[in-house]
Amino acid sequence: MPEHRAGRLEIVARAARVAVTIAVIFIVEVLVLGLAALPSVAAWALVLERIGEDRLLRTLVQAFLIAPAYVAFAIALMGWSALATRVTGARTPANAEYPIAELSWPLLRWARYMVSTHLVRICAGTVFRGSPLWTAYLRLNGARIGRGVYVNTLAIVDHNLLELGDGVVIGDDVHLSGHTVEAGVLKTGRVSLGPGVTVGVGTIIDIDVHVGAKGQIGALSFVPKHARLQGHAVYAGIPIRRLNVETTRFA
Ligand SMILES: CC(C)(COP(=O)(O)OP(=O)(O)OC[C@H]1O[C@@H](n2cnc3c(N)ncnc32)[C@H](O)[C@@H]1OP(=O)(O)O)[C@@H](O)C(=O)NCCC(=O)NCCS
Repeated sequence: MPEHRAGRLEIVARAARVAVTIAVIFIVEVLVLGLAALPSVAAWALVLERIGEDRLLRTLVQAFLIAPAYVAFAIALMGWSALATRVTGARTPANAEYPIAELSWPLLRWARYMVSTHLVRICAGTVFRGSPLWTAYLRLNGARIGRGVYVNTLAIVDHNLLELGDGVVIGDDVHLSGHTVEAGVLKTGRVSLGPGVTVGVGTIIDIDVHVGAKGQIGALSFVPKHARLQGHAVYAGIPIRRLNVETTRFA
């Protein structure tokens, strides 16, 4: 086959893969959001039916229903979304490298996982981050998380590549993900934080990182890819360096 013809066929195939992916995302997310909204909408309709036609009463009731209805929607969304990613197999493969320009099927499957995570992040994460409900969602969506873990960040993705031991604390605005992009190539890797690890606010953790039990990472630090940090030690800086501080107080 002539080269220019093969090139044109690849462009068409790429466009088709993107179109199918957008259609699947649209269908899955409309279903997920609809199922999540259903209990609130149904309860709302039921209450309005019961209270009759008094305009003032209807206005008051609706005003006070907004917050609980939204909270119920957000909780349901976390459950339905996690179920949908399991059913549709949207996941981040470990140790993969995909050139973004190729828009291959595995890359687009990863993109579906990102979109579902993002929708939950903006609709529910803003309400529940740092709470056990947020941890429960991350667990349902593929992360391996121990007991007593607090995750006070929304910048957490590729959940199935993350492992957080008992008692891990992730500070505000920490960037924790199982992927990075270098020279137009998406690269993935696991991140595992041992029991008792604390990550300071605003820190970025790159891919393929392991932190030993009770390791402490300071605020506004950068942990480069493939880093292996010892337990019972304190690290900070850009890139991180081991601090010569007394660690027993963290033990
Ligand atoms: C890293 C950290 C745990 C170290 O605390 P510490 O053991 O009390 O250490 P010190 O404050 O005595 O600092 C020791 C040295 O490290 C430096 N250092 C401390 N934190 C640093 C950071 N985040 N980045 C760069 N350097 C840092 C200090 O400047 C000091 O340097 P020096 O010896 O040249 O003077 C702490 O500074 C920190 O960053 N905590 C983050 C808390 C947080 O965000 N928790 C999240 C949940 S809310």
